[in-house]
Amino acid sequence: MNAWWREAVLYQVYPRSFADSDGDGIGDLPGVIARLGHIHELGADAVWLSPFYPSPLADHGYDISDYEAVDPVYGTLADFDELVRQAHGLGMRVLIDLVMNHTSAEHPWFADSRASRTSPRRDWYIWADPRERGGVPNNWLSAFETCGPAWTLDERTGQCYLHSFTPGQPDLNWRNPEVRAAMQKVWRFWLDRGVDGFRVDVAHRLLKDARLRDNPAELAHARRHVSHPGLRMRNLDLPETQEVLRELRRTLDSYGGPGGERVALGEVPISDDRRLAAYFGGDGLHTAFHVAFWEQPWRAAAFRETVDGLAVLTRPGALPTYALATHDISRAATRFGAGPRLRVAATMALTLRGVPCVYYGDEIGMADVPPRAGRALDVDGRDGTRAPLRWDAGSSGFTTGQPWLPLGPAEVNVAAQREDPGSLLSLYRRLIALRRASPALRAGDYRSVEAGPDVFAYVRSAPGERMLVALNFSARLVSFTPRALPADGRAELSTGRRLTGTRVSLAPLTLAPDEGLVVRLEEPS
Ligand code: GLC
Ligand code: MG
Repeated sequence: MNAWWREAVLYQVYPRSFADSDGDGIGDLPGVIARLGHIHELGADAVWLSPFYPSPLADHGYDISDYEAVDPVYGTLADFDELVRQAHGLGMRVLIDLVMNHTSAEHPWFADSRASRTSPRRDWYIWADPRERGGVPNNWLSAFETCGPAWTLDERTGQCYLHSFTPGQPDLNWRNPEVRAAMQKVWRFWLDRGVDGFRVDVAHRLLKDARLRDNPAELAHARRHVSHPGLRMRNLDLPETQEVLRELRRTLDSYGGPGGERVALGEVPISDDRRLAAYFGGDGLHTAFHVAFWEQPWRAAAFRETVDGLAVLTRPGALPTYALATHDISRAATRFGAGPRLRVAATMALTLRGVPCVYYGDEIGMADVPPRAGRALDVDGRDGTRAPLRWDAGSSGFTTGQPWLPLGPAEVNVAAQREDPGSLLSLYRRLIALRRASPALRAGDYRSVEAGPDVFAYVRSAPGERMLVALNFSARLVSFTPRALPADGRAELSTGRRLTGTRVSLAPLTLAPDEGLVVRLEEPS
């Protein structure tokens, strides 16, 4: 039997913005519990929760001040346990965010570390002397433009600490065995509470050059991974990182029995697939987001190239995770435009070979909601993609209070789309149901098909079943004749008006403008 996650559809909940149960304008865990039915009806197999731990919000929860608690704004540990219990009761798994590259600057470990040069936990973080005349220790940059260098001078001890993100997120020193042991305890804390796995935050950053050498001059401008022939960055993507990921994997494996495998989904923001491919499908991370996938412009050839490219680079049997957006990435409706393209994009994300992950609100076509002028909250301009979900048109259903970020337009809401068979939400449900029912789509092989510049087409095949997926990225009628396929098939699903079950000629195949189509190919008898 395939491990559950290999055939799963994931759903990302950003807890602050999903559903607010107590009227403070901030989504919370009881809110998620109350809305689990929506995720279940959609057909998702697992929920990934972005951080809900105590946090001073330098980076909206990705700065954690206590790894073994729930921030009171989101509820209690009892609420978390109840969420896991109810999700499991519905047959869904729960993944949580594991942020272990850095803690919050307000974590007691860091308080201890910064207290003096001889603190017991001094070496839990990465400290270095400033260069002469107050300069930073080396040329590494924070991932965020607004944060400048990756170092901040701590006056008290006259040394700088490393922070790959905001100064409120000091990087842990993973070369220190005590740090590893402390984090291992965190993994176990949540695994013992029944979580089915982790989404591993910036998994490629855990280790840094032990001598803190400068990045090569050609890469000195890089805030995130940049490839350069013959050169490697020294503050991320180090080979030793795999040791930590393997240790995590061994721990996960020690919990998971048959059917109960605990999974590590990597967030590895590397756009170069040659490097990304090294991170998953081996004895470390099970899977990782295909980062280049959400960076493509709306062009069939661009998506085909990136999907095919990663497929040839990955280890045998490895599966990437495909998302159209996350809490860091502008929404599909904003990048591609609301309308028929969203239907084509959904068809693609839910029929590729990999693990689809739906970002909350994408199933109703939410677009980014820019913050009001002067009211931006995020350090890196990501408020837009994190707008609260509108459950209904009237009072929004998100909160009875003042939402922490502005809501999007009232028309884009769950209730309006629920009963409408032509809605995007209904299409998502149909796609997920089709995937679940089809061995070829759920677990089959993948091979792209030559289909001209406007169409991304591929065949998914499993023993006894073959499906052709053809996605028209243009607003024109397009015809092409896929090679080495039967002369016809039956429509399983179209994003346009074509009816399910109707015969589809493949010689040639004509797609309506902006049509995404799944065709069942008759097996030669
Ligand atoms: C990951 C998170 C992002 C966060 C960063 C630092 O990229 O997805 O939201 O800002 O890590 O933790
Ligand atoms: Mg609340």
